[in-house]
Amino acid sequence: MPIERKVIDIEKIEEQRAICAQIFERVTADGQRPLAMVDTYGCQQNEADSEKIRGYLAEMGYGLDVIVVNTCAVREHAEMRVLGNVGALNHSKKARPGQIIAVCGCMVQQKHMAEKIKMSYPVVDLVFGPHELWRFPELLNQVMEKHKRVFAIDKAESVAEGIPLRRDGKVKAWLSIMYGCNNFCTYCIVPYVRGRERSRRPEDVLAEARQLVAEGYKDITLLGQNVNSYGKDLDCGVDFADLIRQINDIPGDFLIRFMTSHPRDATEKLFKTMAECEKCAHHIHLPVQSGSDRILKRMNRHYDRAKYLDEIATARRYMPDLVITTDIIVGFPDETEEDFADTLSLCEEVRYDAMFTFIYSKRVGTPAATMPDPYTRADKQVHFDQLMELSNRISGEKHKEYEGKTVRVLVDGETGKEEYNLSSRTNGGRLVHLHGDKSLIGQFIDVKITASNTWALYGSLEF
Ligand code: 5AD
Ligand code: SF4
Repeated sequence: MPIERKVIDIEKIEEQRAICAQIFERVTADGQRPLAMVDTYGCQQNEADSEKIRGYLAEMGYGLDVIVVNTCAVREHAEMRVLGNVGALNHSKKARPGQIIAVCGCMVQQKHMAEKIKMSYPVVDLVFGPHELWRFPELLNQVMEKHKRVFAIDKAESVAEGIPLRRDGKVKAWLSIMYGCNNFCTYCIVPYVRGRERSRRPEDVLAEARQLVAEGYKDITLLGQNVNSYGKDLDCGVDFADLIRQINDIPGDFLIRFMTSHPRDATEKLFKTMAECEKCAHHIHLPVQSGSDRILKRMNRHYDRAKYLDEIATARRYMPDLVITTDIIVGFPDETEEDFADTLSLCEEVRYDAMFTFIYSKRVGTPAATMPDPYTRADKQVHFDQLMELSNRISGEKHKEYEGKTVRVLVDGETGKEEYNLSSRTNGGRLVHLHGDKSLIGQFIDVKITASNTWALYGSLEF
């Protein structure tokens, strides 16, 4: 059943922008404009959220001494880093007593974490969850005017249009097409902190895509926790493949990427659309998480190994040059040697171009957190290292196959190094280091691959 959709009226966003203007007047009155800082942890969704926070801050004139820490809750390690770094802000605040410190994002949407910050981190002035981001100016204004701490952790799952954005860079752009997740994989905290799936309307997504193309962006990544279920909550007759086709029809030379796809509902229609749309990159990030049917069931992934491999075969039939990447969790509760061997064999079979591997991290409130687990962290580390070795070997072998070939890349930035001063990406998203003039940034060019290693390719413009 579709959830009730809380759309934030555009007037409400206008109100927030009016507050930005008020703050601008106040803080720029003495002619001083020190920089604000937004520190981002976690996934691309968080990067995209931080661009909204920066957009609001820019409208406030940056004339603030504000530090915003945008947090992640997917694994314990990220939370520990955030807490360590927030604790260290004590020094910064002592030196600059007027400084405002805000902590937002997925970590603080968890009740126990918001409570922990309230009790143990008095340095923090403002805490807000992902559902409250749209009213960040109002919350910040409350802190500034009332000189008291503000905690805003609403549960209302909203979709807001019209929030100003300050993007990172001029070549690549994130474009959020939906928020939240309905899948409830048993290890994952995301559905609890980001809420149920809410798609943005196709016309809003298309308008933003057109604007990005007009502004000269060349690489647009459509973002969602599970992009394949785009539109299901809207009843608007546009599914994810249709959306790709509509964006592909926008005139201009640019690439369409997307992430993340859940194997549960990646369809043949999607692969066919990817193959037919000339602007769609031949890359799919299709997290398998495990190669063992027993573990996949316990993870609540709704597919088995055979279905997954079948999907890969279908996708490769449509796009023989498809770049495939994945996420894998090692050491899910009660993962045996046999289960792990299934993961290794699946990886050998698929031969991923790149794998993102994680050791299972227990998340409070998820079903997996209460599953018995006889294995130690040290046992898991052994498997993790084995998987990394396999992943590095296959990536290295796949990269070697590029040597001597000419590939089209998009030059996306500078590396800061002398020999290979530019970075670029192939259509499939592989990193290629180059030497060339920085005027090439933002251009599609042909390069010859001259060398490679596990992580990257090295190319030459002269051939
Ligand atoms: N422990 C370890 N890895 C996790 N991921 C999600 N939740 C956990 C967890 N509790 C991984 C999954 C997901 C990626 C973004 O993070 O592999 O695809
Ligand atoms: Fe988490 Fe699963 Fe949703 Fe991905 S699909 S965000 S792993 S619950």
